[in-house]
Amino acid sequence: MWKLTRNEEEDYFPSSPRKDWSIGLMKFVLVLGIFMMGVVLGLCLSSTFTHDFNSRTELFFPSTMYSTNCDKDCLSIKSFLGPKHLKHSMTDDELFWRASLVPQMEEYPFNRVPKVAFLFLTRGPLPFVPLWERFFKGHKGLYSIYVHTFPDYKLNVNEDSAFYGRLIPSEEVYWGSITLVDAEKRLLANALLDFSNERFVLLSESCIPIYNFPTVYEYLINSAHSFVDSYDVDTPQGRGRYNRRMAPHIQLYQWRKGSEWFELKRELAVSIVADNNYYYIFRKYCKPSCYPDEHYIPTYLNMFHGALNANRSITWVDWSRGGPHPASYGAPSITAGFIKALRNNGTFCMYNSKSSSICFLFARKFAPSALAPLMNLTSEVMGF
Ligand SMILES: *[C@@H]1O[C@H](CO)[C@@H](O)[C@H](O)[C@H]1NC(C)=O
Ligand SMILES: *[C@@H]1O[C@H](CO)[C@@H](O)[C@H](O)[C@H]1NC(C)=O
Ligand SMILES: *[C@@H]1O[C@H](CO)[C@@H](O)[C@H](O)[C@H]1NC(C)=O
Repeated sequence: MWKLTRNEEEDYFPSSPRKDWSIGLMKFVLVLGIFMMGVVLGLCLSSTFTHDFNSRTELFFPSTMYSTNCDKDCLSIKSFLGPKHLKHSMTDDELFWRASLVPQMEEYPFNRVPKVAFLFLTRGPLPFVPLWERFFKGHKGLYSIYVHTFPDYKLNVNEDSAFYGRLIPSEEVYWGSITLVDAEKRLLANALLDFSNERFVLLSESCIPIYNFPTVYEYLINSAHSFVDSYDVDTPQGRGRYNRRMAPHIQLYQWRKGSEWFELKRELAVSIVADNNYYYIFRKYCKPSCYPDEHYIPTYLNMFHGALNANRSITWVDWSRGGPHPASYGAPSITAGFIKALRNNGTFCMYNSKSSSICFLFARKFAPSALAPLMNLTSEVMGF
């Protein structure tokens, strides 16, 4: 067996004099290091204690790690209570989740003036913007506007318009498909992000107001019920659209039909945005020739919030001519007598369990040519 001799060992393990020398050097370096660290630490402390907190944290955490656009109030309550700008990159799932958050405290830590959110579901152009602008004029702080268009549509309005910057991130919508319900939920959800919005009205580009803003505001804010058309009718266009595969979750007796132009109070808007289960049943089984926009919300409210619904719409429409689309009124139809009859034709309806002569606040459908004669009638007939 090969073995190290004493001499050979010494070649591998330095002799004691060399060991002593190196230990001395190490001690010196260690003392020098401690001394240097002391100097550096002393310098740091003396400089940082004369500076504020920010520069001290900056010494240990580079400022780039913390660069934000906020000055002092990085969790501003103001931006939480109502986003100033409507642009965002949230997906529908993220948006609906966020919009369905409900405060558990009864009182607000700010003076909450309830607002009416006007949700415009449109392909693109809004021909009645001048009429609506006159309607909204002087009532800032009591309303908010949200517009859903075809994606990438640019709404061409002046900076001082009530509609300026009110486009929400929109998706493609196909008539009669679930994408219409998606767009409605998207409008509701964007509007729910503003905690002051209390009532939510869905309108189209062919809708007009037939009363002035104070009347509309009082009527909606003080109503115990929401206004969603919801009825049961045993026809191919009613019960005939029910799909047996929706059972047992949705039964035929619960099935309802109604115009999509709803008015909802906040509590119901949250409930609809938060619902995934029934929405998916409609998405899966309400097709073809079913039209989810005419059934999903009326049926869902009937199942869970019936007592809070007036079961009637506040948007007047004329189906008397038959066919798949209601009558559309252009310039020749617009007279003071016609608009007065829409406001009150002698019939009454229930409002807060009492009889009221005001049954409709809005009306459809109107062709763009109706704008000029309507602008002529606002002060004489509509009171704005
Ligand atoms: C609306 O219909 C529901 C049933 O879905 C009913 O409970 C409610 O009382 C009705 N609302 C009014 C104001 O009659
Ligand atoms: C008044 O309007 C309502 C709703 O459009 C309609 O049902 C009713 O028949 C009208 N009444 C008269 C007297 O025209
Ligand atoms: C506006 O009203 C005036 C007077 O009532 C009338 O002469 C004029 O033709 C109307 N204009 C339109 C666009 O209807």
